[in-house]
Formats: sequence, structure tokens, C-alpha cells
Amino acid sequence: MTTPTGLDAIENASRDEIAALQLERMRWSLQHAYDNVAHYRAKFDAADVKPQDLKSLADLAKFPFTTKQDLRATYPFGMFAVPREKVVRVHASSGTTGKPTVVGYTQQDIDRWSHLMARSIYAAGGRPGHKAHISYGYGLFTGGLGAHYGAERLGCTVIPFGGGQTEKQVQLILDFEPDLIMVTPSYMLAIGDEFVRQGLDPAKCSLATGIHGAEPWTQQMREEIQQRFDMHAVDIYGLSEVMGPGVASECVESKDGPVVWEDHFYPEIIDPNTGAVLPDGELGELVFTSLTKEALPVIRYRTRDLTRLLPPSARSMRRIGKITGRSDDMLIIRGVNVFPSQIEELILKTPRLSAHYLIEVARDGHLDAVTVNVEMKPEFATATGAEKEYAAHELAHHIKSYIGVSAQIRVVEVGGIERSAGKAKRVIDRRPKE
Ligand code: DLL
Repeated sequence: MTTPTGLDAIENASRDEIAALQLERMRWSLQHAYDNVAHYRAKFDAADVKPQDLKSLADLAKFPFTTKQDLRATYPFGMFAVPREKVVRVHASSGTTGKPTVVGYTQQDIDRWSHLMARSIYAAGGRPGHKAHISYGYGLFTGGLGAHYGAERLGCTVIPFGGGQTEKQVQLILDFEPDLIMVTPSYMLAIGDEFVRQGLDPAKCSLATGIHGAEPWTQQMREEIQQRFDMHAVDIYGLSEVMGPGVASECVESKDGPVVWEDHFYPEIIDPNTGAVLPDGELGELVFTSLTKEALPVIRYRTRDLTRLLPPSARSMRRIGKITGRSDDMLIIRGVNVFPSQIEELILKTPRLSAHYLIEVARDGHLDAVTVNVEMKPEFATATGAEKEYAAHELAHHIKSYIGVSAQIRVVEVGGIERSAGKAKRVIDRRPKE
């Protein structure tokens, strides 16, 4: 039910009401998975738990986790809980290795996803009648179509651009004057660079709001985007296995971390090593249980994303902090744990360096050697060798003192780091596999 404020009533409900709804829906979801997916039934039986054992939300901890490997083991459609004919759409996330992970949706799943994306866009400041430019990729990736259906549902005029063709993106932004844009944060900056290359000031364009996600980004990067485009940049989180974009999304009035749409997804934070559930506020791996999904219910799905659960603020539902990284993209360099996001934060603290960077790790004899390739900001494209050297020195110093590793910095030409029209590639690890 939508209230006169434009919010769903549940967004401002009491915590008791939310918990009661979650418990009722969680029971349904566990039963649905158990009854209709052989893989879940086998795992529950092996762990000696039955859906009826869930008496309270905390009882969820008795149930086994689900991982990407479970989805791979049942590739392509083995985890579907409805007959294949009821699945109106599939998406897939491209694994870096091996087969993609396939996810499916019933018509009702698509309707709920559209609704939650509309809720997310509204939270970001989008309104019916706004023009929404979508630069997330369309296709098997959930970004484009997820954003598209949500913006249509909200009542926006949708410009379904997709990724790539950066010059043309700029042209259509100038010609169509969209109010909001949905795009990965790294590609937003690439679009900004294209404005500058054409001698235009991105701050003067029509955009008032950017809704960015699909990859980790720092608070510094948010500030950079907001400043360059003179618009709000808000964070949207999601993953294909759990739905796609719109599992959690940030409110423009607080910009304090994505609100988990807890009426449809139950979040937990666990210790990634022991699997133990951690209290709210502690850093660990984010785990989701879907409460309403029909085609692909997920029970305690381990996202590998590291973050913390934060108390409600602008809505009654809990938030997640910025994703600091994925447990699988943590680099261990000479024994020190390093996340690409830590390096990004330091790059953006260095005044003349841009957020276009690539970290290379190699083995030099017995030691790990790190090179950070980074571009100057387009405004400093004509910087002298000495100025570049100064910026490089400054960054190396920050990395050594904040993270504790020695890194070589290569300041490259503007445009020297390959742009991705979707998720940016931040790391190349050339070390021999042990
Ligand atoms: O990236 C869905 C999405 C599309 C989200 C558009 C937001 C916007 P996948 O391709 O399955 O789905 O990748 C999911 O991307 O587990 C995180 O590691 C990362 N990720 C997504 N959103 C954020 C975010 C889409 N806001 C994986 N901050 C997730 C940090 C994010 N990481």
C-alpha cells in the first residue's frame, strides 16, 4: 500500500510489525524451498532441520548456508522452485571462471522486483514524470532491465541507453535533459571525462540524481561524482542471486548507506570464517534469505560482500554500510590484507589523481610487488613530469603509511586506463597460483 507520502506503509512501520511480517514470510520461503527444490531438501535433511523448526527469526541460524557453488552444481535451472514454464525470464551473472550463475523469475517475481526498484528510485529522489537515463548494461546482467522496469513502474520516461558509446551518452544527456541517471559509479566518471573532453562542464547538465551501484565505491568517489555533476549520487546495492539491483538502496535525504528492503529480504552478518551470526554493527559477510521469491528462493545466501548492518534512520528498515570489498577480492600483499577500495580512498585523497586506476600485483623473486596505475584528473592532463612525480610520491606515501605496503605508482596519460562501460576491473593479479 502506498501512503500519501509516496512510500509503502511498511517502510515506516514499527520494528515489531516488520519482524512479524518477516517471520510469516520466512516460514513460507523455507517451506517453499524445501518442498520444491531437491537441493534444499537434501541440505536441510543433512543438517537435520525442517522448515517447522523456525519458531523465531533467530532460528534461521540453524539452517545451512547457500553459496554460488550450490547454484553452479545445479546449473542451469536446478534451483528453480517452480516448473520451468512459469519462469518468465532468466538472467545470469558472468563468473570470472567457469559457467555463469543462472537466476529465474516468475511474473510475480518481476512485479515485485519492479516495485522494489521503483521504491529505490523514489528513495533516491526520482519521481513520476522524471526522465531516467539508464546506462547499466541490458541483457543477461540484471542492471539494465532491473532499472528499466523500476523506472517505468514509478512513472518515469525511460531512456534505455545501456552501456558504452560514451560520446553518444553525452549527446543524449544534453539533448534529452534527463533528471536522473542509473549507471555504475566508475562509468559515471567516464561519462564526466567525456564531457570535459568535449569542452563541456558536466555540472551544467540537467542531471539532478545519479543512482550508482553494481561495484564497490568509496565515499570519496561519491563526493567526486557529486561535485563534478552538481547532483546527488546515491548508492544502490543488489546481486543477481538475490534479485538484482534494489535489494537495498539509499535515501537521498540521509545518504547513510543502502536501506535493506527488509520486507522482502532478511539480512544477516556472519563471521566469514566460522559462519557464526554477528550482532548488528559488526563487520562481516552479508547473507540474505529471500522472503517472497517464487522462482529462485535463496536461503542464507552468502554474498561474499563485507559490510555491517546499521540501525534504521530515514526508514524503519536496517541499512548496510558501504561494501568494503568482497572476501574474494581481498589481496594479501606481503601478508597484509588489502582491499582495492582502501587504495581507491587514498587515490582520491590525492588532489590531482582521478578514480581511474588499475592495481597490478606480481611476484618479484619471493616478494609481492604492487603497482598502482592511475590517471591524473582531466583538468591536469597537461601536468608536467615533476607534477606527476609529486602526485605519485604523495600516493605512495599514503599507501605506505595507511595500509602498510610499499607500492610503485605509475601516473599514466588521461585515458590510459581502460574504461569499462559496466563494472570496472580494478585488479590484475599476475602472481603464480600456489
Ligand atoms: O551488480 C546488480 C546491480 C546492478 C546492483 C545495478 C546495483 C546496480 P551482480 O552482477 O550479480 O549484480 O553483482 C553483484 O556486485 O555481490 C557486490 O559485490 C557488487 N555490488 C553490487 N552493488 C554494489 C554496491 C549486480 N552498491 C555484486 N556497492 C555484489 C558495492 C556492489 N558493491
